Amino acid sequence: MLHSMRFGLTLLFVSFFLLSLTTLDTNDMLDASQTMTEVELGQKLFFDPILSLDSTIACASCHKPAFAFADSVAFSHGVNDGLATRNTPSIMNMYSRPYFFYDGRAATLEEQVIVPIENPVEMNLSYEVAVQRIQENEEYHLLFQKIYETQPDSNNIAYALAAFQNSLESNGSAPLDQWMNEIDLTALTASQIRGREIFISDESKCFECHFGPDFTGDEFKNIGLYDGINLLDKGRFEITRDSADLGKFKVPGLRNVGLTAPYMHNGMFKTLEEVIDFYSDPYDFVKDPINLDPLMVEPLNFTEQEKEDLVNFLHALSDGDIPFREVGDE
Ligand code: HEC
Ligand code: HEC
Repeated sequence: MLHSMRFGLTLLFVSFFLLSLTTLDTNDMLDASQTMTEVELGQKLFFDPILSLDSTIACASCHKPAFAFADSVAFSHGVNDGLATRNTPSIMNMYSRPYFFYDGRAATLEEQVIVPIENPVEMNLSYEVAVQRIQENEEYHLLFQKIYETQPDSNNIAYALAAFQNSLESNGSAPLDQWMNEIDLTALTASQIRGREIFISDESKCFECHFGPDFTGDEFKNIGLYDGINLLDKGRFEITRDSADLGKFKVPGLRNVGLTAPYMHNGMFKTLEEVIDFYSDPYDFVKDPINLDPLMVEPLNFTEQEKEDLVNFLHALSDGDIPFREVGDE
């Protein structure tokens, strides 16, 4: 009896403690600014529609945490019903990338930030006006002062957004990492282990382009998705004007690829099964590709079992936990 009363008192005490924690959580902005880090400031900007013309679209409207910071449609919606012209990629694991966008037109994340803000079909706001808005926002003003010891400007807004994006690195929770690091030798199924062997084999050639910790060599390659008839995006060529670059796109990293459907710069494949069907015989999908990579010329003609194993392997690259996954789950 006495015991249970003491227990009751402890419970009461604990709930008071928890209550005080929740009030701390919803504290006023002064308190927040005292502890907020550069990454958290970038996070706030990333989820804030203030950076779009009519304040309806945030970075996170297209780069959705629920899909490893990609979108689930071929082309994302921007302001005024605008449609992006390429598929929205995941922006996890950007830290080691030497350039950004499918055509590599931005060299740094800081430089990249301005593009979606000013893009008429994305956020459609001049960067100058965006900076001004942040400056006029009392809460941001305070936060930037605290973190950068100066008012918000065109540089530090980009720094904050880049810092947040650089924090979105995979954390070793994918089944493949668990298995490779011998943390859990049962993390991969027999099919996934077979799929991995196919993926890294000389015959499949996947690894010739998708290698390194993030499964990309950060090169531009043409896998046959440009034919000048139905498939018109010239990719890297638009930047270099070098005919050798016709139809080349940045090789995307494959971490979390199981979460980022649809696939390719134009979102033309709805599932990983379709992607593997394509790699099995690209000519089934595009009859006369222009400037196709020599590695892709001979169809691989995978068996049904090999296709299944490859798809299962790709799912083993999905992190167990994705930051902010519970946010923006649409
Ligand atoms: C309307 C949808 C949309 C919005 C809003 C948007 N993006 Fe994107 N983002 C895209 C698309 C589409 C691409 C690919 C464009 C290309 O490659 O030409 C992209 C590419 C990127 C990339 C390059 C990824 C890579 O693999 O090279 C980064 C980084 C990025 N966005 C960050 C941001 C940030 C930061 C914001 C907010 C300031 C933002 N995006 C707002 C759709 C969007
Ligand atoms: C010659 C280089 C090359 C080879 C070989 C290659 N890939 Fe790719 N891969 C690319 C490029 C480039 C893209 C992006 C093309 C685009 O968006 O138009 C891509 C895209 C993908 C995607 C879609 C990613 C996304 O986010 O949209 C998957 C999945 C993929 N490759 C898996 C594989 C597998 C599995 C193999 C082996 C069977 C393979 N790749 C072989 C260069 C290559």
